[in-house]
Amino acid sequence: MKLIQSSGGVFEVEVDGRRVFSKKAVGRHAEPGEVLRLMQRMAPPLSRCIIPLDAAAVRGITHLGGTILGTTNAGDPFMWREQGPDGTWVKHDRSDAVVAAFRGLGLDALIAIGGDGSLEIARRLCEKGIPIVGVPKTIDNDVGGTAATFGFDTAVQTATDAIDKLHSTAESHERVMVVEVMGRHAGWIALHSGIAGSADVILIPEIPFDLDRVCDKIRRREAEGRHFSIVVVAEGAAPRGGTASLVDPAHERFGGMGDKVAHSIQEMTGKETRSLVLGHLQRGGSPTTFDRLLGLRFGAAAVRLIAEGRFGSMVALRPPAIAAVPIAEALAMPKRVPLDSDTIATARDLGISLGD
Ligand code: F6P
Repeated sequence: MKLIQSSGGVFEVEVDGRRVFSKKAVGRHAEPGEVLRLMQRMAPPLSRCIIPLDAAAVRGITHLGGTILGTTNAGDPFMWREQGPDGTWVKHDRSDAVVAAFRGLGLDALIAIGGDGSLEIARRLCEKGIPIVGVPKTIDNDVGGTAATFGFDTAVQTATDAIDKLHSTAESHERVMVVEVMGRHAGWIALHSGIAGSADVILIPEIPFDLDRVCDKIRRREAEGRHFSIVVVAEGAAPRGGTASLVDPAHERFGGMGDKVAHSIQEMTGKETRSLVLGHLQRGGSPTTFDRLLGLRFGAAAVRLIAEGRFGSMVALRPPAIAAVPIAEALAMPKRVPLDSDTIATARDLGISLGD
C-alpha cells in the first residue's frame, strides 16, 4: 500500500502523530519506503515535493514541537494564488490537477492533518475521488466531532504558564494585566488557561462582553483589598453590539482586542493596566504528554482506517476511545464553547467574570 502523508496549508502537522503514521504504516500495512510525505504545498506538480518517510526520518521526534513536514497557510488548491507578470495576484482552481497528479503517482491514500480549513479542503478533494482520512490538529480545539484536537493541550499549557508568571508583576505593581491568547471563533484556550491560571476575567468569542461588567469585577476586587487583576482575552472576543478586532481583514487575521480592553480598563477604573499578546508562542514548544499520546493514537487509528478502506472519515477522540466520524459531519458543527458546559459553570462558581 502506498500512502501519502500531507502537509502545507491544506495539510499541516505541528505537534506529533508522524511517528505512528510512518512506523505503523510501514510495520503493518505497507512496505518500507512506501510512506511518503508531501512537502510544503499541495500543488502540482506533486512529484517534485515528495520525500519518502522512512524509519530514520521519523526517529526521535515524539518530544519535539513544530513539524518535519513543513506547513503553509496559503496552499488551497481550490483557490490557488498565483502572481501574474504584472505583479497582480489571481486565484484559480487547481484541484483537478492535484487529483490527476495524485493518481499519476499511484498512491493509495492521503492523510490530511489540520484544522477546519485544512479538513474542508480534504473533504472537497475526497469528493473528487482522492481517498482521504482526516486527523484533527489545531491549537484552537474547534473541530467538531472530537473531544479534543492535538496541539490544544500544549497551547493551553503555554498560556497557563504565562498567566502564572504574570501574577508576580500584577500583584507587586498593583496593576491590571491583560493577556491576549489565540482563538478566533472559539474561546477554548482562553477559558481553560484562564481558569487554570486563576484569571479574574475571561473574555471569549462565544460571550459578547460588556466593559462595565469587566470593570465592576476589577473594582470589586479593589474594594476587597485585591489591588491587581488578570484578564484573559481570546483574540476573537468582541464587545456586546461590536465586532472583533482584525489586523488584516482580507486574510481574517485577528489581533488587538487585548490592547483595546486594556486601554478601556485603565480609562474606566484609573488602574494602571498593561497588555501583552502571547501570539505564536502558543504554537511552539515540546508537546505535553496528553498531546504526544493523542497524536500517536490518532496516527495509529488513521492508518487502521486506511487499511479498512474507510475514506472520508476523520479520527476523533470519543473518550475513552478513538472513533471515526465522517469529515463532513465533523465540519458541519464547528466546536464552540457550549455556554451550558460545566467548565463555564465552574468559571462562574469560582467568581470569574466572563464579561456578561
Ligand atoms: O488556526 C490556528 C491559529 O493559531 C489561530 O488561533 C490564529 O488566529 C491563527 O492560527 C494565526 O495564524 P497565522 O500564523 O497565520 O498568523
